[in-house]
Amino acid sequence: MPLAAALRPIKFRPVPRLLDHIGLAMYSNFNKAIAELVVNGYDADATEVAVEITANQIVIRDNGTGMSEDDIRNSYMMLGSDQKRNVKRTPRFNRLPIGNKGIGKLTGLGIARRISVTTTKGVRSLGYEIDRDELQKSKTIEDSRHELLVVSESAKQSGTVIVLSKIMPHVRIDAPQLRGYLAREIPQDHNFHITVNGEKCLRKDIPAKRRIPVRLTDPVCGSVTGEVVVAKKVLTNVQPGILTTVRGRVVGEPSLFDLNSGPHKYHYGFLLTGQIEVPSFDPEDEVDLIPVIATDREGFNRNHPKYRVYHKLMTDLLIKICREEERKLSQNARKKSKLRFRRRSKELQMISMLSVKPRSRSRKRTGRTHRECNRLTWERKKSA
Ligand SMILES: Nc1ncnc2c1ncn2[C@@H]1O[C@H](COP(=O)(O)OP(=O)(O)OP(=O)(O)O)[C@@H](O)[C@H]1O
Ligand SMILES: [Mg+2]
Repeated sequence: MPLAAALRPIKFRPVPRLLDHIGLAMYSNFNKAIAELVVNGYDADATEVAVEITANQIVIRDNGTGMSEDDIRNSYMMLGSDQKRNVKRTPRFNRLPIGNKGIGKLTGLGIARRISVTTTKGVRSLGYEIDRDELQKSKTIEDSRHELLVVSESAKQSGTVIVLSKIMPHVRIDAPQLRGYLAREIPQDHNFHITVNGEKCLRKDIPAKRRIPVRLTDPVCGSVTGEVVVAKKVLTNVQPGILTTVRGRVVGEPSLFDLNSGPHKYHYGFLLTGQIEVPSFDPEDEVDLIPVIATDREGFNRNHPKYRVYHKLMTDLLIKICREEERKLSQNARKKSKLRFRRRSKELQMISMLSVKPRSRSRKRTGRTHRECNRLTWERKKSA
């Protein structure tokens, strides 16, 4: 193009409303929005994230690494950066970072119009705010300025506190539901706990399709009590299986026992969770020559007669529950197809009732009544 002349280069100019689109559109589920902020604590090697919900604010507090001034400028304030992808494992707990899109912090804007952050790394605490109404006053996101303040120079505990305020009127957050959601979605172990209003997010909070109380007594392994839960959705971050406790303390990993060791595979196993207490496994129990619980509390002495009986009891119970669920599923499918059939036959009946029998051609042409036609036909037959 011979006439080409270079003008000032053009650039994208994101307007503040774009943040709403990201915050609202991607996280219309409020529980998921809060989960994103909790996950940031997990990624920052926190051992605890506490969520507090009050009438006019939501606080997410973690004891992770916190952020320095440089972290805030070059990580937090970057939108859409994938820098976490470069972090293969977190330095303290060797965790695989969950975040990777660089927009998780914006989920706060799907819930509230103000995000206040106080973060501590080393001895320095810094604070800043992102206020949606202030942001609105700037033409573009880049034009907006947020004050960064030194809150303290003698802080003792690293971590980050995020306060969501000016909560939007349509937002409803139910603490027990949020607990269940977080328990199902975010990995928790002995190094990482989440609480909502002071209560830990546990397996028992996972939304259940069915809760089956367990009250069994066996001559060999004694009382076996607790609950088996059939979760509403497939357990993603929680390992499916039943936790066995002794004196309320969990022993070993969640287990599905021998549910799937036979030829039939029970897919409902992926929905099973729960907790069972077996007091007779207590290592203090002098009756046992060999303890049922392995010395490191990591598992059981699997050949112990008490454990073997318990294992069989639980396998049978889980198989029974899965079979019931499978039966319900096929019953529902049958009911649905019956309903469909009934609806279809009703429709056909209606159609046949509505469709008017066409009048005979001759009657139509002559305009005779039925009786007249019949009489004429009878007379014709008689004379023939
Ligand atoms: N609670 C926190 N503690 C320490 N650093 C944090 C915290 N929250 C955010 N950050 C920093 O801010 C950055 C941006 O967070 P953001 O959640 O927006 O993106 P991300 O976690 O990298 O990816 P994703 O969008 O998938 O969540 C993080 O990479 C991290 O460096
Ligand atoms: Mg994140």
